Amino acid sequence: MISIIPAAKQVEPEPGAFPIDWQRPLTVGLQAEGLTESSAAKFVDWLNKFCQRECFVKVGIEFTAAVETSTAAVRLMVNDQLPREGFQLSVQPGQIQIAASCGDGDDFSGWQYGLLSLFQMLWEQKLQSHDSLPCLKITDHPEFSWRGLHLDVCRHFFDVEFVKRLLDLMVLHRLNRFHWHLTEDQGWRLEVPSRPKLAEIAAWREKDGTKYGGFYAQAEVQQVVQFAAERGITVVPEIELPGHSVAALAAYPELACQPRDFSVETDWGVFDDVYCAGNEATFEFLQEVRDHVIDLFPSDVIHIGGDECPKTRWKECSKCQQRIKTEGLHDEEHLQSYFVQRMVNYLADRGRRAIGWDEILEGGLADGAMVMSWRGHEGGIAAARLGHDVVMSPTSHCYFDFRQVDDPEEMGFHGVNTLKDVFDFQPVPPELSSQDAVHVLGGQANIWTERQLFKPENVEYMVVPRICALAEVLWGHQDQEDPDWDGFQARLKSHFQLLVELGYRGRSLKGISKPGD
Ligand code: ACM
Ligand code: ZN
Repeated sequence: MISIIPAAKQVEPEPGAFPIDWQRPLTVGLQAEGLTESSAAKFVDWLNKFCQRECFVKVGIEFTAAVETSTAAVRLMVNDQLPREGFQLSVQPGQIQIAASCGDGDDFSGWQYGLLSLFQMLWEQKLQSHDSLPCLKITDHPEFSWRGLHLDVCRHFFDVEFVKRLLDLMVLHRLNRFHWHLTEDQGWRLEVPSRPKLAEIAAWREKDGTKYGGFYAQAEVQQVVQFAAERGITVVPEIELPGHSVAALAAYPELACQPRDFSVETDWGVFDDVYCAGNEATFEFLQEVRDHVIDLFPSDVIHIGGDECPKTRWKECSKCQQRIKTEGLHDEEHLQSYFVQRMVNYLADRGRRAIGWDEILEGGLADGAMVMSWRGHEGGIAAARLGHDVVMSPTSHCYFDFRQVDDPEEMGFHGVNTLKDVFDFQPVPPELSSQDAVHVLGGQANIWTERQLFKPENVEYMVVPRICALAEVLWGHQDQEDPDWDGFQARLKSHFQLLVELGYRGRSLKGISKPGD
């Protein structure tokens, strides 16, 4: 049995074995036929960096770029027939081959996932003190194009080093979208040079004389984006609107319906003070922030928030009421749609797509908006039926801030998402027709960091091992009709040990599944 997470979809055993000398790095070389000269040069650069990744060094399974491809142990080749991010890995007695397509010439993720599969197989062999790999052929590709993980860095702040650690964990699980939740009532984490008070004021909260906070400077964001891109991960930034905006209002109170001396929130919850939808200055501010976001983040999709926006202030605000009149809107729900539509259009004019939490359906879904369905699958189903692209992230399966077992002593809050719940997540609900189902681009798990989640090890505890089940779902089960829970649990044992060896401080596997599973 080969033990990879996510499971390889198609495995054909072959006779023989490839011998391994654990004392020497495996040489990896590119057979450049099928690549332009500039793609090949980019690839060599990528491969050199790939070989230096910490995860290999840490467990003593090392790769090195070959000087001569013809004698490399692992030969990489181009096969444009293979789907995006897919690969074919062939272990033969004398050599290993990995074929992938490279998209427009700089998409190396197929080779990356092939090499990481090889890494996982090598780990398994090393763990069992074997000194060879059984010969076989794997053909694999992902089920979903959006395989996401979200991190709230506002309720608690996490530095760039930790973000990179999480990105490394993501790529091992073949996740390719990092949703970076950058603004909240309790803190604004993105430095915007033209609005200096965001870093000076909105990034900091004070309770009982203690100041807490932080922000990412432009150069730090660029580092994260680059680090992620080398791993085939797109960073999707979220700048919330119209709600969850108290920190921004603390810096720029004139953007509120009722300006006053706001403080960055120190409590958790949903707050009535939100951006004024009747004031043009709000849109100027948000557009200025978006311009900066567009400059910093190459992501095709930008998250605009949209969840949990109370309409209390808008009901009392003369400017908001005037906007409702002049725009011929029915009520405050439609005012939210108007607000969202303006941001969606602003981004679309600049070649980017907006995604928002499923509340953006209320009052009418803005043309061109994508929906992230969190309050169950329903919002996603409705949006897909309207022809909008959807990412599923329901609280029933994808909330990694929820407890992992139903025990009040367990870390987490609100609810319970067991490992099995995550494993049972179906991004495409059965009630969607096949025509509508194509709009479900994939799924994502969210890590909100209120309350106990204030240190990196707390986040790791919530993420490991649930990320392993998420990987299995989003890459796609080997048998979609009958996902193999027992097989997954068996594979998880050595995989979990790998994560421990890499220093991730996850929750022990003991007692983590439902009784009877
Ligand atoms: C959310 O969990 N408020 C999107
Ligand atoms: Zn207002």
